[in-house]
Amino acid sequence: MRHFLTLNDFTKEEILEILDLAIKIKAEVKRGEIIHRLEDKSLAMIFEKSSTRTRVSFEVGITQLGGHALFLSSRDTQLGRGEPIKDTARVISSMVDMVMIRTYKQKDIEEFASYSKVPVINGLTDEFHPVQLMADYMTMKENGKDNNPKVAYVGDGNNMAHSWLILASILGFELRIATPKGYEVDEDILKTALKNAKKSGAVIKIGNDPKEAVKECDVVTTDTWISMGQEDEKEKRVKDFKGFMVDNSLMGLAKDDAIFLHCLPAYREYEVSEDVLESKQSLIFEEAENRLHAQKAILVWLDNQRG
Ligand code: CP
Ligand code: NVA
Repeated sequence: MRHFLTLNDFTKEEILEILDLAIKIKAEVKRGEIIHRLEDKSLAMIFEKSSTRTRVSFEVGITQLGGHALFLSSRDTQLGRGEPIKDTARVISSMVDMVMIRTYKQKDIEEFASYSKVPVINGLTDEFHPVQLMADYMTMKENGKDNNPKVAYVGDGNNMAHSWLILASILGFELRIATPKGYEVDEDILKTALKNAKKSGAVIKIGNDPKEAVKECDVVTTDTWISMGQEDEKEKRVKDFKGFMVDNSLMGLAKDDAIFLHCLPAYREYEVSEDVLESKQSLIFEEAENRLHAQKAILVWLDNQRG
């Protein structure tokens, strides 16, 4: 049995296999074919943070596969009142076929998985957002940006930056990360990525200059400066991130046919300008839709691993 907690648990071949399945499933849906690959299976979705895309895509995804989703907010479950993770994991996983969790600490989702009888999927933690990266790379693939791309991530050294690091280091492409000083990526995650890169041939460049990062790249991406749980730091962060907005002049340094990605929600005129977000280069809504297709593939792939 496999879980989907971080991309680091997957080989390049496995990631590409899941994405091929996602592209196949997407084409079926577009032709109006809905195949019930997970007939009568239940997916518990535990949310300790807000969500639009993750909730809708997993819920619709499992429904299209012939299964059923349960939305469990920590506000309404005993988890929110202090029932231990190890008890919750054993109870929920004795009744459902898969569990998706969005929470704060990666170590909590790992604890849940270690007690779970069924596959557990990371729907975002403070450290990682692996399902998002599957949709992002799928969007790159569909738009011809999967042949040795140079990707620039401009902004906070957060869960998205970490997930890009792991993806690039496994697939073997060039990733340049530019964060303000003091907002760099986690050192241990960087170490893991550099170790992977030795094997895959990935080029990882870490710095504090957005212009340097974006120069002649194929993909430009960013994320909010204020992640969920950091709302109290807003004033300081907005000051510290000055000069890190992806605007037309920054995009102009990338290749002419570069694409712009953002996991959303986007905060206009903070991490990205309105004109970049609404430009032809911006594939944000394709990227968001691909959450549905990529996650359906993850659900089917994990179920197949169980035999
Ligand atoms: N990108 C993403 O995960 O969006 P939600 O927070 O709306 O789920
Ligand atoms: N970094 C953001 C991503 C939201 C999808 C956050 O954690 O809030």
